[in-house]
Amino acid sequence: MTAMPLPPPGDNRLGAITDDLAQKGWSWQPGFLPDALYRALREDVLAIDAEDELELAGVGRDDAFLLDRSIRRSRIAWMDRSTPAQAAFLDWAETLREAINRTLMIGLFEFEACFAVYRPGGFYDRHLDSFEGAKNRVVSLVVYLNEDWKAEDGGALLVWPEGAGEEAEPVAALLPEGAGVALMLSETIPHAVAATRATRYAIAAWWRVNPSVYGRVDPLS
Ligand code: OGA
Ligand code: MN
Repeated sequence: MTAMPLPPPGDNRLGAITDDLAQKGWSWQPGFLPDALYRALREDVLAIDAEDELELAGVGRDDAFLLDRSIRRSRIAWMDRSTPAQAAFLDWAETLREAINRTLMIGLFEFEACFAVYRPGGFYDRHLDSFEGAKNRVVSLVVYLNEDWKAEDGGALLVWPEGAGEEAEPVAALLPEGAGVALMLSETIPHAVAATRATRYAIAAWWRVNPSVYGRVDPLS
């Protein structure tokens, strides 16, 4: 696959994304993923699903890792560069990283991404993406790979503003329409996946900050 172009000049979606992240901590960009990349990634996830290469998704990590089906019911497959579509996606994400770093000076560093498949009845309760006690995931990226999603299919991404109480209503309910892209600050924006009634395909991804410098008084020590 050839290199995936960013939006042409005049379509200032990168600026909108960084403005949104700075002002409210999240951004929704319908149809942002370039079409050829969307189609190739959708084929990839359909093949992975058909070959049953998905593992049950957990919550937390290492010792705290739980396969808690009361919080999250979905399956995932980590992405690598094993297909042209995955390689192109990782390159595309790199251009986003550069734009965010340049504008917001966050210093995003590592990227990890997985395909996530929710079967009918699948959901993910309200949560933050950054694990407690470890400031590692800083910006979250979600990309949807669904064709012709309808409101009655459910599966909306529900977003709350920073600091919203458990009882607060979400400020957005975003349908996971193909090529739509959501970004959120991982440590502050609570979000959830409403129960889905159709099989729901997405990529869930995160950037980390450089673990050797972030949060240390003296990065050279
Ligand atoms: C996640 C997540 C949102 C979505 O995987 O952490 O919140 O819309 N995904 O799939
Ligand atoms: Mn999440």
